[in-house]
Amino acid sequence: MRSKIVAGNWKMNKNQEETEALLAELSAKLPDTAAEVMVAPTFVNLASAVRDLESSTIQVIAQNMHFAESGAFTGEISADMLLSIGVQTVIIGHSERRAYFGETDEILAKKVKAALAKNMRVMFCFGEELEDRKSDNHFNVVAGQLKNGLFDLEAEAWKNIVLAYEPVWAIGTGETASPEQAQEMHAFIRKTITEAFDANIANTVSILYGGSVKPSNAVEIFSKPDVDGGLIGGASLVADDFMAIVKAI
Ligand code: PGA
Repeated sequence: MRSKIVAGNWKMNKNQEETEALLAELSAKLPDTAAEVMVAPTFVNLASAVRDLESSTIQVIAQNMHFAESGAFTGEISADMLLSIGVQTVIIGHSERRAYFGETDEILAKKVKAALAKNMRVMFCFGEELEDRKSDNHFNVVAGQLKNGLFDLEAEAWKNIVLAYEPVWAIGTGETASPEQAQEMHAFIRKTITEAFDANIANTVSILYGGSVKPSNAVEIFSKPDVDGGLIGGASLVADDFMAIVKAI
């Protein structure tokens, strides 16, 4: 059985007070669900978010981390620091990190290994750009991102991996991949993992879809057999919208 997951990526939004208010609203409105529900506030508010959600089943996850254990990396955060405040899961490879902060496949592979070495759970993001899709190169790009980021892991490590397929052209644009496009890519991802590892890993890893998921399209996207949930940006900043998406799963 694959975990169903709905995760909210808050990106660089919400100050301390706003974070507290949104978390209070989310925990009050969380419906009964078998899905895992996660939120990723900014680094400065992670520790207080963990405390605020102590009695909630909503998990607090990080948006990023550095691959080094510690040292002279001004502005960076390590796996140990996250663990020390009770954060067990980290998003790695978000397209905004790749595009705006120069995170290459090589850097991301190091981050994935560093997090897994500390027994953290990794939500690994990847997805093609519009040009790739227009030139019919999207399957190649996605296969390459998976290979470079994850394919020299031990089979055992996959139990701590969650995948998030996020076509860059659908992130924050209001344009969503159609449920058919999402399903087609998720099935391709499982096939690619089966070839590189085995069908058991491919069929047990949760694959989330991300990119303009909203209350109005979530049911249809989540109804696809290979879509196990969503990574939600904009709509995760409004409690009622995020909870409508949680209900959709
Ligand atoms: P969006 O962002 O839902 O605002 O498109 C998704 C993401 O970047 O994870």
